[in-house]
Amino acid sequence: MQIERVKESTLGSIDFEKLDFGKIFTDHMLICDFDGESWGEFHIEPLKPIAMHPASSVLHYGQAIFEGLKAYKNDENQINIFRLQSNIIRFNESALRMQMPSIDPEKSLLAIKEFVGLEKDFIPTKDQGSLYLRPFMISTDHTLKALSSKTFRFMVIACPVGFYYDKPLNIFLEQTHRRAARGGVGFAKAAGNYAASFYPTELARDKGYDQILWTDITNGCTLEELGSANFFYVKEDVVHTPEIHDSILKGITRDSVIQLAKAKGLDVIEGSTSAADFKKDLAEGNIECMFATGTAAAITYVNSITIGSDAFEVDSNHYQPILDLKEDLDSVKFLKNKEFEHWNVVVD
Ligand SMILES: Cc1ncc(COP(=O)(O)O)c(C=O)c1O
Repeated sequence: MQIERVKESTLGSIDFEKLDFGKIFTDHMLICDFDGESWGEFHIEPLKPIAMHPASSVLHYGQAIFEGLKAYKNDENQINIFRLQSNIIRFNESALRMQMPSIDPEKSLLAIKEFVGLEKDFIPTKDQGSLYLRPFMISTDHTLKALSSKTFRFMVIACPVGFYYDKPLNIFLEQTHRRAARGGVGFAKAAGNYAASFYPTELARDKGYDQILWTDITNGCTLEELGSANFFYVKEDVVHTPEIHDSILKGITRDSVIQLAKAKGLDVIEGSTSAADFKKDLAEGNIECMFATGTAAAITYVNSITIGSDAFEVDSNHYQPILDLKEDLDSVKFLKNKEFEHWNVVVD
């Protein structure tokens, strides 16, 4: 792959003990362009602003998708990109729904691996955090015609990051605004899904909540997912999570947690939970634990939820089976688990 290296690295200026999420970047970016017929070659350039025509289709019609995944470094300095293959599959599912070209799974995996290898000195230690990778694709035609672009750019940028949440979450069950509708693009990591979620999220944050738990009105108000994480709860020692359908993002951490939980012998139900039933269970003290899963959030406990005007507290961060599950997830990420090592892409 063609690599143009930076003349001077920013590595020395980074305080790895204070990593503000998504604000500090590695030196380079990975790029590949689609000319309307086929993809060009992957190449790496120094990270810099990209010039755009003001009529670039992405600026007007939001034809843009992205992914989020992480590379980890263990105490032996081994580097692992966790579940990269799954992120590429999901990226291509998003691309299909957004009328964008798919990327070649093998070529993109190798290119991302090489990119991470180049930026390996930016990967924080296990105690400091991880390297967040942000693959994304934008439409690049210069036209104001409200039609799909023909040309696209794929890129990967990377940020050394600390831990996203440092305390259990206080969430609000959103029953007025909707994140996604059935038949829509909620399952895709489409940029516009996030833009549409910011207003209700800010309303909730103004009231002191960390996150919104979205609901699905078409099914009489059932639980869906959080702003950037999937939702789980434990009732009478059974792990529950909303079932996947086209208005929910098919979280890769969600899938990892389900598989690890089953491997531990925990019962897991992927189903539909109505807000009314959930509220009743909370009121009766039947919920032992609530948590959020995501690449950024990993497993983050939810200790408080407000439904309507009623707030419920759950001592989630003391429920031992999920504390153990968190360790299991880390054991895979840090290359200490054989059973699930097929999830890992080790960078030499
Ligand atoms: C809306 C939404 N749901 C769930 C997730 C969790 O997905 P994953 O575990 O693949 O990071 C994310 C993560 O980015 C998200 O944006």
